[in-house]
Amino acid sequence: MISSAPSSSTASVPGHALSGRSVSIVGSGACVPARVLTNSDLEKIVETSDEWITTRTGIKERRIAAQDEFTSDLATQAARRAMAAAGVAADQIDLIIVATITPDMVFPSTACLVQQKLGASRAAAFDLEAACSGFIYGMEIGQQFVRSGTYHTVLVIGAEKLSSVVDWQDRNTCVLFGDGAGAVILQHRPGSRGLLTTVMGADGDKSKLLYMPGGGSRCPATTQSVMSRLHFLRMEGRETFKHAVQAMISAATEALRRCQLEISQIKCIIPHQANRRILDAVGERLGAKPEQLFCNLDRYGNTSAASVAIALDEAARAGRMQRGDLVLLVVFGAGLTWGAVVIEW
Ligand code: ACO
Repeated sequence: MISSAPSSSTASVPGHALSGRSVSIVGSGACVPARVLTNSDLEKIVETSDEWITTRTGIKERRIAAQDEFTSDLATQAARRAMAAAGVAADQIDLIIVATITPDMVFPSTACLVQQKLGASRAAAFDLEAACSGFIYGMEIGQQFVRSGTYHTVLVIGAEKLSSVVDWQDRNTCVLFGDGAGAVILQHRPGSRGLLTTVMGADGDKSKLLYMPGGGSRCPATTQSVMSRLHFLRMEGRETFKHAVQAMISAATEALRRCQLEISQIKCIIPHQANRRILDAVGERLGAKPEQLFCNLDRYGNTSAASVAIALDEAARAGRMQRGDLVLLVVFGAGLTWGAVVIEW
């Protein structure tokens, strides 16, 4: 269904006028694999301890996909739950965006595989890569299509099987990541202002802080590249930590400024779930109360593009926000990339 008539309930944000129809999240869903990998399990794989992981990161366990369970499977399941919550059928979806750094294959896109699994035959579909910021980048792109009237219903998914690119010999990184997917359905909802503003940013100068050297056109797979462990992610943790805190604070501050809001007016802050110490530092520097912050990284670790998508769904289902409440999402990831969104729920 293609709708072109602009609606009367245009979202108007002081200091950052938005034109076109308002766009709301009308349903969300999430999916994590059944297998739980605890910190004690990791003690048997690398030289680490539950105590180190808990105090340095806040992570207690993470989910790991089965060998025959792929990013598209997690994405499809999360999408089905979001569609059920929104009351949307597969043939109503106009566009599918999948944010991921762990697609099933380099091509075709995971979004096309999800489109096939859902039977969403009317939908256009593409993948988007902005690492941990991908879901917010995806929501911003998706909402533009709804706002302009080009599309009526957009499905945005953040999905990862990070266990497939984690170096299980590197204790610096393997303890941090997990697998999962989260999804939202974007539509115009009459009488609701929905997504109020989105901030996005990037800094390619710092691309080497967090990257995977092998597998692309620069370093295709060879026996040598596999032997040199180039097909696993690499991260300079301490530097990444510093930039994560700075970028998330400035993105959140800019988003609040555009909406002329104080942090105290936000009901629920959902940050990218990378490290408890990052969440606490960001919350503290923004002047937020601990009860405003949503945190589930103790159970899932860092699921990159899926992180805020899963957290958003859990927060909504837990009743952390009610219709009309203000929600702030703030993310940071490889690229470097970052972003923040203010939503009237
Ligand atoms: N178990 C035990 N010891 C460990 C482990 C481990 N799993 N990992 C590292 N150590 C050791 C290190 O070897 C080091 O030992 P050394 O002093 O003898 O060299 C020591 O612990 C301290 O290491 P640091 O790197 O200083 O530890 P830090 O306190 O910085 O914590 C961490 C590391 C958790 C990685 C942190 O830096 C972090 O969270 N960084 C940010 C990650 C992030 O935000 N990523 C976001 C983007 S993710 C994306 O886009 C996909």
